[in-house]
Amino acid sequence: MRVLVVYFSWTGNTRAVADELVRQLSPHHKVEVCRIEPQKQRGYLRWLLLSFIPSSKVKIQPAVEDVSKYDAIVLGGPKWTFSCPPVNSYLSRLSGCEGKNGAIFITYGGFGEDRYLNGLVKKMEAKGLDVRATLLARRSQVRSGEYRSGVKVFCGEVEAVASMRKETGVVQ
Ligand SMILES: Cc1cc2nc3c(=O)[nH]c(=O)nc-3n(C[C@H](O)[C@H](O)[C@H](O)COP(=O)(O)O)c2cc1C
Repeated sequence: MRVLVVYFSWTGNTRAVADELVRQLSPHHKVEVCRIEPQKQRGYLRWLLLSFIPSSKVKIQPAVEDVSKYDAIVLGGPKWTFSCPPVNSYLSRLSGCEGKNGAIFITYGGFGEDRYLNGLVKKMEAKGLDVRATLLARRSQVRSGEYRSGVKVFCGEVEAVASMRKETGVVQ
């Protein structure tokens, strides 16, 4: 299976989850990693203000945008109040997703994560991705290392859906 792990991380928590995901998937699959990088760095207050504007975007560095050659696309990002502008920008550019397997992981401080995750799942589905695997990792779990078991379950879900689709051509 050819997997793209694409993520944005500002303070390193989502990156830790992405690294673990890649570590667990790599022995069995061809995994490519792409980090979403804003063109301009901003401080906390600026990011916070932008995150209050739903679907706000910023300029980002070139990233893997045509995902037609992958079997699964795994997107990761932090939960930022209403939206995370670098992730919005990436999603708006994404192409070649129709009928592909999508998965999403979010790290968060401690509140509002379910609704936020659902919103992102809808955005991925609007691009044509079939999202069947999700992971929420609380910042404290990332720091303590507790998140690793969640990543293991998440990897299993990503693999199960993708292999079912490959074998049968459809997912029940
Ligand atoms: C601008 C901003 C807004 C945030 N808003 C929320 C929030 O609404 N809810 C929450 O649980 N955590 C919130 N957080 C905390 C982050 O989601 C959390 O620290 C996350 O793990 C950061 O991921 P990163 O280290 O990959 O950047 C916010 C952090 C920032 C910088």
